[in-house]
Amino acid sequence: MRGLLAIATLVVVVDAASVSLGDLEFNAWKLKFGKTYHSEEEEYQRKMIWLDNRKLVLEHNMLADQGIKSYRLGMNHFADMNIQEFKGCLGSFNSTKTHSATPFLRQAEGVALPATVNWTREGYVTSVKNQSSCGSCWAFSAAGALEGQMFRKTGKLVSLSVQQLVDCSWMEGNSGCGGGYVESAFQYVFNSGLQSDDTYPYMSREGICKFNPKKLSATCSGFSRLSVADEILLQKAVAAIGPISAAIDTSPKSFLLYQSGVYDEPACSSTKVTHAILVVGYGADCSGRKYWLVKNSWGTQWGERGYIRMSRDKDNQCGIATRAIYPEV
Ligand SMILES: *[C@@H]1O[C@H](CO)[C@@H](O)[C@H](O)[C@H]1NC(C)=O
Ligand SMILES: *[C@@H]1O[C@H](CO)[C@@H](O)[C@H](O)[C@H]1NC(C)=O
Ligand SMILES: *[C@@H]1O[C@H](CO)[C@@H](O)[C@H](O)[C@H]1NC(C)=O
Repeated sequence: MRGLLAIATLVVVVDAASVSLGDLEFNAWKLKFGKTYHSEEEEYQRKMIWLDNRKLVLEHNMLADQGIKSYRLGMNHFADMNIQEFKGCLGSFNSTKTHSATPFLRQAEGVALPATVNWTREGYVTSVKNQSSCGSCWAFSAAGALEGQMFRKTGKLVSLSVQQLVDCSWMEGNSGCGGGYVESAFQYVFNSGLQSDDTYPYMSREGICKFNPKKLSATCSGFSRLSVADEILLQKAVAAIGPISAAIDTSPKSFLLYQSGVYDEPACSSTKVTHAILVVGYGADCSGRKYWLVKNSWGTQWGERGYIRMSRDKDNQCGIATRAIYPEV
C-alpha cells in the first residue's frame, strides 16, 4: 500500500500533465475493487478493455438519462474483462430428459395471477452469493430453487451447499467448476440429499466429495420442466410454486455491466442459454415495463444488490423461459 501511494505521488509530481482522467479513474477503480495484475502487459491490456467499457457505459447511461434506455450500466468488478472470458457454466439442452409440469397447473387453473410476486419479500430467498471464477451457476440456481421449496415446507430458510453439488454430483453428469445441469443437480439431491452451506461451505473451486449423510438439510423428491419458451406458464409457476430455476443468454456485454433498471437487450438470444439463475418474482415498474425478478450468483456488487430485473413478455428475451425447471421436496 505504501508502495502504491509512493508511486501515485511520483506520478502526480513528475508527470501531472500527461496523466489522463482515464488513468486516474482506472487507478481509483482498481483500488475500489482490489484489482492487481501479474504484469505490466496484463495491466495494459486490462486498461484497454476497461477504457472501452467505460466508453460503452458513459454512452449507454446518456441514453438512459434521456429515457431512451430502460436500464443503466456501471463500472463494476467485471469492467476490465472481455465477454470471451465468461465461459458458459451450463451444459447444453438435453431434450431427451424433459418432464412436463402439469400437477401445479391443475391447481393453478382459474386462479387469478397476482400482478406482482416477490418471493424475497416472503422470506423464500437466501442472501446473494458469489460464484467467483468457478462455473457453478447451475449449482447456485438449483440450490436456490431447493431453498425456496424447503422454506415452503419447513418454514426455515437455510443456504444449501453448492460446494457439495460441485464436489459430489459428477455421476449425475455434472462437471464441477467446468459446468453442469440444474436437473442433474436435482437428480443428485434426489439420490443423496444435500447439506447446508454452513456444514459444507463454498470454496469456489473443485474439491473431493466430503458429503456427510448425517448432516442433511434438504431432500428432493422429483423435478419438473416447464414447456419451452412459455412466459405465461413461467408466470403461473412462479406465482404458484415459488422461485424457479431458469437459464439465460448472458453474452451481450450489457449483461456483465448491468447496474439497475429493467434490462432490455434485443441482441440477447432466446435459444442459446448458457447461464443458470433463479427467477424469484415478477412485476412491472412505474413506467409499466414488465420484468422478471432474477437472483444472480455474481455477488451483491453486480446489478441491483445482486439481482436483475429482466424484460418480461418480450418474446422470451434472453431465453428466460427456455429452460425453466423446479424441484419438489
Ligand atoms: C423484493 O423484496 C425485497 C425484500 O423485501 C426488496 O428488497 C426488493 O426491493 C424487492 N424487489 C422488487 C423488485 O420489488
Ligand atoms: C443427455 O442425453 C444423452 C443421450 O441420451 C445422455 O447420454 C447424457 O447423459 C444426457 N446428459 C445429461 C446431463 O442428462
Ligand atoms: C467475488 O469473488 C471474487 C474472488 O473470490 C472476488 O474477486 C470478487 O471481488 C467477488 N465479487 C463480489 C461482487 O463480491
